[in-house]
Amino acid sequence: MEFTLESPLDMHVHVREGAMLERVTPLTADHFAGAIIMPNLVPPVDNLERLLWYRDQINAAKGDATFDPLMMLFFRNYSREELEAAREHIFGIKLYPAGATTNSEAGVKELSAAEDTFALMEEMGIPLMVHGETHGFVMDREKEFLTSYAYLAEKFPKLRITMEHITTKDAVDLLDQFENLHATVTLHHLIITLNDVAGGLLNPHLFCKPIAKRPEDQEALLATALKAHPKLMFGSDSAPHPVSKKECCGCAAGLFTAPVCLPTLVELFEKHDALDNLQNFVSGNAQRIHGYTPPKTTVTLEKTGMEVPARYGDVVPYRAGETIPWAVTNVQN
Ligand code: NCD
Ligand code: ZN
Repeated sequence: MEFTLESPLDMHVHVREGAMLERVTPLTADHFAGAIIMPNLVPPVDNLERLLWYRDQINAAKGDATFDPLMMLFFRNYSREELEAAREHIFGIKLYPAGATTNSEAGVKELSAAEDTFALMEEMGIPLMVHGETHGFVMDREKEFLTSYAYLAEKFPKLRITMEHITTKDAVDLLDQFENLHATVTLHHLIITLNDVAGGLLNPHLFCKPIAKRPEDQEALLATALKAHPKLMFGSDSAPHPVSKKECCGCAAGLFTAPVCLPTLVELFEKHDALDNLQNFVSGNAQRIHGYTPPKTTVTLEKTGMEVPARYGDVVPYRAGETIPWAVTNVQN
């Protein structure tokens, strides 16, 4: 049995820098025709020079793969001149509340202090991607942030906003309330709940921001993805950390899912008899929402089985040691 996807897109990925970038970039580039590259390096990717340097690193690491790195600036208050210069090189700007997640210390403290830049982005048609969590109780952080999404969507009705990596039924419900509000969802939040992270022995490899939530949240996310809700896009949030930063006290947040995304998505959509919707979930919706045409690739998966390695270098992948029924067997450009 065979299944093909045209130009799959990962609308949220972390490829880091240096040796880690060299290791993980090909694993995304070999399967995806394009991916949004998150800018939370240290220091952040918050100027054009650094962004172009970063894009060069990724293009050098991707090898022969047909792969379009969709570059993001890290949100700060930018001038009109800065945005005009950056416009043709960027896919969007990613806003992190200060301290909300890995390497976000330089993020925004008050949304109200960022309104001039939101207005410029709205005027210039630059999308805003948001890590939407407050600093409240960990299970409530996303839900508490939803009022900020509503405020942004209402105050800047032409600003294209993406709620990144949504994890709650409440966020799903908000999607339909504002025309300019969209969302990405990860692979793992379609599958796991807090029980998988901390319900038995603690599993640091499933610890991420936002934390996985309740079964009813996971069920709502999965149902919304399976029907390829037109405002929902796949964004893996694959976020590799070395094993020494995961298996320790003070575990870093993030799952490394890049190599298993497509095989697991096909497995999941097949199980729920929804394979017909997978193309829109992993590519069509993002293309339509962003008016983006990716390079043309055809990715074939077959039921030959993928044995997920225990490690990629010093990174433990999601589903390490498991055999996934589906494997990527061919990629045509
Ligand atoms: C991401 C990382 O490690 O960069 N971590 C995570 O848990 N998802 C940052 C992020 O997207 O929050
Ligand atoms: Zn992320």
